[in-house]
Amino acid sequence: MRTVEYTRQGEAAQVLTLREERHRPAPGVGEVLVRMLVRPIHPGDLVGVEGLPGQPEQQSGARTPGVEGMGVVESLGADVRTLRPGQRVAVFPAPGTWSDFVVVPADLAVPVPAGVSDETAALMLVNPLTLCMLYRAMEKALRGQTNPVLQTAAGSSIGRLVGAAAVRHDLQLINLVRSTSGAERMRTLYPSQPAIATCDDDWQGQVRRHAGERGVQVVLDCVGDAMTQDLAGLLADGGTLISYGQLGSGTTPLEALPLMARALTVRGVSILRWMSRTPKERARDVAFAQDLSQSTPDLLEVAASYDLADFKAAIEHARRPAKSGTVLLTTPRTADSGHGAA
Ligand SMILES: NC(=O)c1ccc[n+]([C@@H]2O[C@H](COP(=O)([O-])OP(=O)(O)OC[C@H]3O[C@@H](n4cnc5c(N)ncnc54)[C@H](OP(=O)(O)O)[C@@H]3O)[C@@H](O)[C@H]2O)c1
Repeated sequence: MRTVEYTRQGEAAQVLTLREERHRPAPGVGEVLVRMLVRPIHPGDLVGVEGLPGQPEQQSGARTPGVEGMGVVESLGADVRTLRPGQRVAVFPAPGTWSDFVVVPADLAVPVPAGVSDETAALMLVNPLTLCMLYRAMEKALRGQTNPVLQTAAGSSIGRLVGAAAVRHDLQLINLVRSTSGAERMRTLYPSQPAIATCDDDWQGQVRRHAGERGVQVVLDCVGDAMTQDLAGLLADGGTLISYGQLGSGTTPLEALPLMARALTVRGVSILRWMSRTPKERARDVAFAQDLSQSTPDLLEVAASYDLADFKAAIEHARRPAKSGTVLLTTPRTADSGHGAA
C-alpha cells in the first residue's frame, strides 16, 4: 500500500514523501476499509501541509493529506450493515485519503449514485457541501433582499458552483477574477453575470456601476489578502463579508471604524464545521451532493488526473494559473476493485 505523508509542515514538494508498506489498516467497530481509487487536491489540503504564514506549526507524527475521495469498500468492521464489500463510495471527512487505503466510519462512506463516474464521485462531497454552507450563509445575510452578491476567484471550482446556483435561483451575482482572460471565460460560462478583472485599475468602479444604488449586500471571499479592505468598502451599509478561503498570500487587514460606523458583518464559513450539523441536516446536504453529481457532473470539472506516485507533478498542476477544475490523484483499478460507474 502506498501513502503520501509528511512529518513537518513546509513547501509541499519538499516535505511530502511516498511511503510503501505491506501493512493495511483494519476497520474497527462501525468502520469500513476503503480501497481508494481517486482523490482530489484541494487548496485546503495544501494549506494543511504548508501551514499559514504566522501560524504555529500543527504537527505531531506523520500525517497524510486529503479529506475526500472515492473508492471501493474492501472490508467491513463489526456492526456495519449499510454497506457491502465491492460497493463504490465517496468519503468525507476522511483524513488521509492520499493513500491506497483509508478506514472511515461507515456513516461517512456515501454510496456513489449509478452512472456517476469515479472522477465525478471523487469530487462529489467537499465542494457541493461547501456550496450548501455558503448558500445558507448568503441567504441569512441577504435577509430576503435581492441586492447583488459579489464573489472573488469566481473561476474557481467553488466559484463556478456558486455561479450555477445564482443562475438557478435568479440571484444577482457579480463575478470577480484576477485576469482579463479569466473574466472572458466567466462571461462565456455565465453570460447573465458581470465578470470583472481585478487587474483593471478601475475594478472597484466597475463593481459599483454593476451593483447600482443598492450596493453589494454580500461578498463571498476566498482570496483574503489586502483586497479584503477594498471588498469591505464595496459593501452597502449593513452588508456582510463572508470569508471562506485564503488564496492570497498576505495578511487580511480590516479597519475597525468603517466596520462599526457602517454596521458591517464579517463571518467565516468552513466545511470543517459541517459535522456539527444534525444527522438529518447532513443527510439533506449529502442528498443534494449526490443529485448534483448525477444531474450536472460538468459542474464538478476535472483539470487532470495523475497517479498517486506523481503527486509532485499533480500539485504543480493544481497551482497553475488559469487551471480549470480540480486535479485528481488516482490509484489504478485492480481485478478486485470493480469496473466503475456501475
Ligand atoms: N471554507 C471552506 O470550507 C472551503 C471549502 C472548499 C474550498 N474552500 C476555498 O475555496 C477556494 C477555492 O477553492 P477551489 O477548490 O474552488 O479552488 P480551485 O478550483 O483550485 O481554483 C482556485 C482559483 O482561484 C484563482 N486564484 C488563485 N490564487 C488567487 C489569488 N491570489 N487571487 C485571486 N484569484 C486566485 C485561480 O484562478 P486563475 O488562475 O484563473 O485566476 C485558481 O484557479 C480556496 O480558497 C479554498 O481553500 C473553502
